[in-house]
Amino acid sequence: MRLLVTGGAGFIGSAVVQSALKSGWHVRVLDSLRDDVHGSAPSFSDDVEFVRGDVRDTDTVSAALRGVDAVSHQAAKVGLGINFDDAPDYISSNDLGTATLLAAMARTSVDRLVVASSMVVYGEGTYRSSTGVLRPAPRRGEDLDAGIFDPLGPNGEQLVPGLIDEDSALDPRNVYATSKLAQENLASAWARTTGGVAAALRYHNVYGPGMPHNTPYAGVASLFRSAIERGEAPQVFEDGKQRRDFVHVRDIASANLAALTWSSRSAPGAFRAFNVGSGTVHTIGDVARQLSIHSGGRAPIITGEYRLGDVRHITASSERLRIELGWSPVVTFDDGMREFATAPLRPAAAKR
Ligand SMILES: NC(=O)c1ccc[n+]([C@@H]2O[C@H](COP(=O)([O-])OP(=O)(O)OC[C@H]3O[C@@H](n4cnc5c(N)ncnc54)[C@H](O)[C@@H]3O)[C@@H](O)[C@H]2O)c1
Repeated sequence: MRLLVTGGAGFIGSAVVQSALKSGWHVRVLDSLRDDVHGSAPSFSDDVEFVRGDVRDTDTVSAALRGVDAVSHQAAKVGLGINFDDAPDYISSNDLGTATLLAAMARTSVDRLVVASSMVVYGEGTYRSSTGVLRPAPRRGEDLDAGIFDPLGPNGEQLVPGLIDEDSALDPRNVYATSKLAQENLASAWARTTGGVAAALRYHNVYGPGMPHNTPYAGVASLFRSAIERGEAPQVFEDGKQRRDFVHVRDIASANLAALTWSSRSAPGAFRAFNVGSGTVHTIGDVARQLSIHSGGRAPIITGEYRLGDVRHITASSERLRIELGWSPVVTFDDGMREFATAPLRPAAAKR
């Protein structure tokens, strides 16, 4: 069985490649090696077929799909970007890229897809108030200026954060999130139209070896790691109590393999979204502290700064993935952070 991993030279894609090889797949990688992602060309072992090319290029994608049984689609422009000028690149890389890939899959009758989605499709997490479950509106600048970081209920009441499930309303709040939701919608339309089967994996905060260095696109765990490496204290925004689900990249890879197995036994036309989280809640402050301790670096500083677009708490229920796909994460937060504190990061990309 042959698997095409788009974006297979990236942080998560390369972990998917390793897991797939271990599970007995023949693996082909299609990756454009974006120059704002890769500081140096990554190397592949002899058992990986590497095609350098862009998923937006019809001929390249059609050739890369030859002899393929399933696709794990990781290629995307990631992160929050720098400013709105990034919008065309997000939509082109992620949505035109996915549409081009799906059209080629339809033409070549490749009918199994796992697409990398993200928790960002939800926007703010889910909360309980005395009157029931709710999703609060975006936080107001005046509240954040006053150090009121937790969103409040409609009557100014305190809320209790909970775990979000896949049936929750979707509320993408930035261009990247919009592009990830469009990828899911395209995958769903492709499955319905062609009789293919698609799983969208909504990754929560992924961390682990091979994360990118300090770039505007890097996740918070690698920003902390990079600060520690420079001999600086990690700068933690707000009060550090933002709740997240940090999930290890090897567990993300095993979720991709579980979703591929699911796709082989699902009815034609099926589309299903799955959260992929560790199931344990930690704060951003916890991550900074763990990384400082395990690397012997400087203790974090809580800055009280904020970014208006950030959500306060977003944590996952991954029960659907556990129950329906039999997946469970194996890397604990403590073990994962201890490893990540000194693990190699991906070399920094050239500045644009
Ligand atoms: N890292 C996270 O925390 C996280 C969280 C949620 C979802 N995701 C999703 O997971 C996937 C992988 O993310 P990552 O963190 O490994 O990012 P990454 O930047 O490390 O890897 C993406 C790879 O895709 C390649 N690529 C980008 N556009 C391409 C195109 N048009 N054609 C061919 N190759 C292209 C890049 O060169 C890179 O190697 C993405 O779809 C991302 O949206 C990541």
